[in-house]
Amino acid sequence: MSRNPTIHDRVVVVGAGVAGLATALRLAPLPVTLLSAAPLGEETATDTATAWAQGGIAAAIGADDDPALHAADTLSAGAGLSDPEVARRVAEAGPGLVEWLCGLGLAFDRGPDGTLALGLEAAHGRRRIVKAGGDATGAAVLRTLARAVSACPSVTVTVGRASALMQDGAGRVTGLVARTERGPVALPARASVLATGGLGGLYRSTTNPAGATGSGLVLAARAGAVLRDVEFVQFHPTAIALATDGSLPLATEALRGEGAVLVDAAGGRVMAGISGAELAPRDVVARAIALRTGRGEAVFLDARRLDVARRFPTVAAFCRAAGLDPAVTPIPVRPAAHYHMGGIRVDGRGRSSLPGLWACGEVAATGLHGANRLASNSLLEAMAFAAQIAADIRDTESRAAGPGHLREETSGPEALPEVRAVMEAQVGLVREAAGLGPAVVRLAALARAGSAAATAGLLVAAAALGREESRGAHWRADHPGQRAPRSTEITLSRAFAVAKTLGDALPSSFEAIR
Ligand code: SIN
Repeated sequence: MSRNPTIHDRVVVVGAGVAGLATALRLAPLPVTLLSAAPLGEETATDTATAWAQGGIAAAIGADDDPALHAADTLSAGAGLSDPEVARRVAEAGPGLVEWLCGLGLAFDRGPDGTLALGLEAAHGRRRIVKAGGDATGAAVLRTLARAVSACPSVTVTVGRASALMQDGAGRVTGLVARTERGPVALPARASVLATGGLGGLYRSTTNPAGATGSGLVLAARAGAVLRDVEFVQFHPTAIALATDGSLPLATEALRGEGAVLVDAAGGRVMAGISGAELAPRDVVARAIALRTGRGEAVFLDARRLDVARRFPTVAAFCRAAGLDPAVTPIPVRPAAHYHMGGIRVDGRGRSSLPGLWACGEVAATGLHGANRLASNSLLEAMAFAAQIAADIRDTESRAAGPGHLREETSGPEALPEVRAVMEAQVGLVREAAGLGPAVVRLAALARAGSAAATAGLLVAAAALGREESRGAHWRADHPGQRAPRSTEITLSRAFAVAKTLGDALPSSFEAIR
């Protein structure tokens, strides 16, 4: 940059999970305003899913491993919809990103010889999961990146939430409006990066913070962005089955990687006779469990022969809080919404379809995860794309952010309990047109009344209705077969159009259906 940076050179990054923090750091020395829901280091349970990530970072580091093998496992989990070039690039970035975090001071778990300990998770052909604190990798990554951002002079942290994007007459995103303690604040920017996380909080049972309701997806959708593969929501098979709904603690997949088994109340193996057994892809394990729980049976993760207290302290603490000792009692489990594979469609540089807008992390659909994310590929993807996005923004000539106009902010009653009930019952692990159609119509009505959560739900439901096949995490009871693999795109206006068609066609008994 040939002149001193001004306010118009500013980049705004929304979200302070791994994607937002890594992007802000990689952008240095460009001036960045990082919009965070809470002061860094004080994130609460409702703010970022990164802090909850029990898995780790997949990286082809072992002597028997190679990024090409990691990419192949990623493609295979993605069930025909992952982009091979993206998978290659992200897998190749893995070892270097682990090094980067080590350089920032993250103390990963190591074996007796001092080398990185490598864990195994479902659908990985090699031990390649790098972890910290046993099952507390996300929290360690978050702490490390937050500390680095706090010490980075080019990043200003503003506490608040994005409420609308600003666009110029040509549709270019010119910044955003944030709700802060001081009221609404306009943040003009040469580039805006959404790193707002996923939408598991739209479901009654989720492993995500309750606040993960697709806010960034909706900001982009309302501004006209194209979204990709939005129907693909991954359900984690083994959330700890507490009696309550809402955010459920996770029993990490690594427990199964280390030998824990799924059993019924009589001790019979739930995965007996199913290819891959406990380490089959997540959707397969989740549906096998849901088949049992749907019949009113309980399913347990028997980890008694593992030293859970020592090796998985986060899970052990959750069990203790629930009054369970995993050394003595199998852990009751059930599937819960975990990760959104779809999102804002971005290219290999993280650019959305709207000039001036980039997206990173779970809110983005890069083409890596396809129809089903491979475990421990998400922290990795976020960091890999953060570096790409920062390089792209740096290489893009700074265009003074004009005033732009504020897109009319639609806000109304969130109606979260109703949205969650509809999503869980009709847009969940097993779907069919008879449930999806009414879900689309109801969510569209709530979305029109201003509910952002219903808007996110509408996008998922409309895309799910359109995909008349079963693939990866999207299981249609009325279309169990597969068609030729194809990614889908949707916009908000298209989703509303689907609802209108269905609404017109719905029988007058619709009220009874819903
Ligand atoms: C887990 O620990 O089971 C979750 C890991 C992931 O979702 O990547």
